[in-house]
Amino acid sequence: MVSGYVWILPVLTMLVMSDGYRIRPPYCYSWRYPSRFVIIPHNIHRPTFPEENQCVASVYLMEGDVQRLFTRNAVQNKKVTWLTREIPYTVDSSYNSYQLGQIRIAMDHFRQRTNGCITFHTRTNERDYIHITPGDGCYSRVGRQGGAQLLSIGSGCDRSGTIMHELMHALGFWHEHNRPDRNQYISITWDNIANGHRPNFDMNTAQQVDTLDIDYDYESIMHYAFNTFAINRAQPTITPRNTSVNPSILGQRERLSDLDVLKIRRLYKCDIETCLPMTPLMNGQQRVSGNTVGSTASFMCNRNYFLVGANQSGCVDTGRWSGAKPMCMSKQGAVGYCSFESSDLCGWVQGSKDNWDWRRSTRATATDNTGPTWDHTLCDSGGVFLYLESSSPARQGDKARLTSPSMTSSHRSVCVIFYYHMYGSTMGSLTLYTSDGRGDIPIWRMSGNKGDNWRVAVIENVAVQSNYKVRRFK
Ligand SMILES: *[C@@H]1O[C@H](CO)[C@@H](O)[C@H](O)[C@H]1NC(C)=O
Ligand SMILES: *[C@@H]1O[C@H](CO)[C@@H](O)[C@H](O)[C@H]1NC(C)=O
Repeated sequence: MVSGYVWILPVLTMLVMSDGYRIRPPYCYSWRYPSRFVIIPHNIHRPTFPEENQCVASVYLMEGDVQRLFTRNAVQNKKVTWLTREIPYTVDSSYNSYQLGQIRIAMDHFRQRTNGCITFHTRTNERDYIHITPGDGCYSRVGRQGGAQLLSIGSGCDRSGTIMHELMHALGFWHEHNRPDRNQYISITWDNIANGHRPNFDMNTAQQVDTLDIDYDYESIMHYAFNTFAINRAQPTITPRNTSVNPSILGQRERLSDLDVLKIRRLYKCDIETCLPMTPLMNGQQRVSGNTVGSTASFMCNRNYFLVGANQSGCVDTGRWSGAKPMCMSKQGAVGYCSFESSDLCGWVQGSKDNWDWRRSTRATATDNTGPTWDHTLCDSGGVFLYLESSSPARQGDKARLTSPSMTSSHRSVCVIFYYHMYGSTMGSLTLYTSDGRGDIPIWRMSGNKGDNWRVAVIENVAVQSNYKVRRFK
């Protein structure tokens, strides 16, 4: 039913329904979509403090041990936290028993200090997880990235306190000494920092950072030591402004401080423990594992019904089930539905007289400042959406067409609902046509940059000619 005269990257869930039947659109949380990977070169020196990673030749890190992704600090972006507070992980097989022991101590420490709010468990089949591996030094990305994400515990990094620090990054926390208000609490001796390392002391702006209304914490496990990245190790790079604070407490790597624990509890909303019980699924069955955060639900419709929406949901740390409750729609009442999760595209076909094809895609698109970060139906890194990249090699005027299977309806008009994401400076337009075989009739059109979010299109009363029993949508 749709044909995209499109040279852009939108469209996802397509839904065609009979006259008069409205459905509440499934929704994702209105998270901001983050910008993409930026890497910054980092000079090479002798290691002195494991997270300085000064011997690291092959990785480029931002604040010493942070692989820069997304925005900085205690992440503003809820999408990159671990929504169920249960973090799956795998470990490289080359670690010895001492190293495995330190990893276990670090993880147990999180569970104990947060009263069981944050836990780590060996991955079973979760899509998003941490893979701990002995890379060149110690580093982690900040927050959940989607899929397997490397957390490097290389040589010299294998003490539990250093591992805790990296796990804090993986949970979504940046360094304490880069907070936007840090100049009230510390002074930086720039002259004692080697040139290439000065960016490690750059301050985050208040827009980039959510300090979660928690006081500056000299004792944070996320703070640098007084002489981190110092040229002269006897002299400070960081000096507390409060003269009663002993500089030697900066950079402790023994334990999560009390304020670190508070930070985790705020970011992960540890006081919220349950979701409301799942309401029943009409004309289908659901399996629900419970209603505490981390519980999951899966859905299946009865014969002669099809599922509109995601077939699974989780109780997340906002105290809500993820996504929207799906519906089972009668195959008789409704005309068609496709979420493009399966590779046959539910029978939709690519055009042959256009310039290019729509691609099935997951997660973030390849170009900065374009596209969605996650699909709309499943709201996670495994969900599929259809995508067109409108920048190079595509050129202005290129078209991509996608045609639905023929659909029948006993009604005179239908309602068409779909989700689209048109974000980027080279956005073209997306046009929807119906066709009765004699010609294409445009029924909806959207052009230009619509910003970084999924939007719903609801087109009511799409006429389908009454003298045809069978109509073809194109
Ligand atoms: C300075 O630090 C001491 C010891 O940690 C603390 O008791 C005091 O309140 C701090 N002073 C200011 C002005 O923050
Ligand atoms: C949900 O849908 C996905 C993708 O279509 C499929 O792989 C998975 O098995 C389904 N899960 C359930 C519980 O039906």
